[in-house]
Amino acid sequence: MASDRPGGGEGVNRPPTTPTICFAHVAYQCGARWEARGAPLPFFEVRSLPELEARIGEADVLVVSGLWRNTLAAAAPRLRLVQSLSAGTDQYDRAVFQAHGIRLASAAGGNAKAVSEHALALLLGVTRNLFTARDDQHRQHWSGMKADFAVREDELAGKTAVVVGTGRIGSRLIRLLKALEMHVVGVRRDPAAGTEGADEVHGLDALPAVLARADAVILVCPLTPETTNLMDAARLGAMKPGAILVNCARGRVVDEAALLGALDSGRLSAAALDVTVEEPLPPESPLWRHPRVFITPHTAGETRKYEDNVLDMLQENLRRLGAGEPLLNQVA
Ligand code: GLV
Repeated sequence: MASDRPGGGEGVNRPPTTPTICFAHVAYQCGARWEARGAPLPFFEVRSLPELEARIGEADVLVVSGLWRNTLAAAAPRLRLVQSLSAGTDQYDRAVFQAHGIRLASAAGGNAKAVSEHALALLLGVTRNLFTARDDQHRQHWSGMKADFAVREDELAGKTAVVVGTGRIGSRLIRLLKALEMHVVGVRRDPAAGTEGADEVHGLDALPAVLARADAVILVCPLTPETTNLMDAARLGAMKPGAILVNCARGRVVDEAALLGALDSGRLSAAALDVTVEEPLPPESPLWRHPRVFITPHTAGETRKYEDNVLDMLQENLRRLGAGEPLLNQVA
């Protein structure tokens, strides 16, 4: 792999050497899975930000997601490739990558099955009262069947779901929801790009009208300037009374104060959130104890296959980097 870093100080004219990979994550077993592949390149693994800060200078390739800080680039003279462990890349400042001549690839697609299944699980968990049944179990309470339609279990067939974001996660989710006989409406930046199997597809500008028809709104879009606070007080207020909101995108796609207001006013019957603005969710957040909020700890993408999904991408990107080709899922 020839050095192609501009302005990389002593790295500029370094002879090609075997690159060293740093796997940086608090929990993923990338090192063990890399060893299971025979460790095609040397590597080391760090599990905390202080460890990463101390050793970033040894890495030519970094595999990272939540431990990334844009300030790390200045302390990484050898770094040429960051393979993100996350599909979302909102934590990486593109300008920093350009300034330091570091290439960035996302893990888009690696979690599409997991996140689409998780979004569906959250929707089913709410409509089938699974979360409240578990709470009841803990207090040995047999709630039985409910006379009140507002709290009775429900069926998804024939209901309308709006899927915001029709990328790899959204398009698989659309297929799953269609299998449950829902009417599915996709919302994407460019509706001309295709329906991905949805019954209808619209641009973001059509969101208020589309929201009024939705029994469930499921967010699986990336966090961008256009999607930041997408579900603000006005848009939450445009939702069909009694609708359900599922967020498997990023916390900042939803205005949390407005969400609490919409739940308390009865506009929304429930919110199932895999992501929150601040993570971990702070102890004082009212979301924790809200009776109609159901939380998973940003685990929608997790699967026992995840490390291998990303290592497949890493190996392909190492090959492409060596061949001077554009990366798979190149972001910067
Ligand atoms: C998870 O949130 C991801 O972006 O992969």
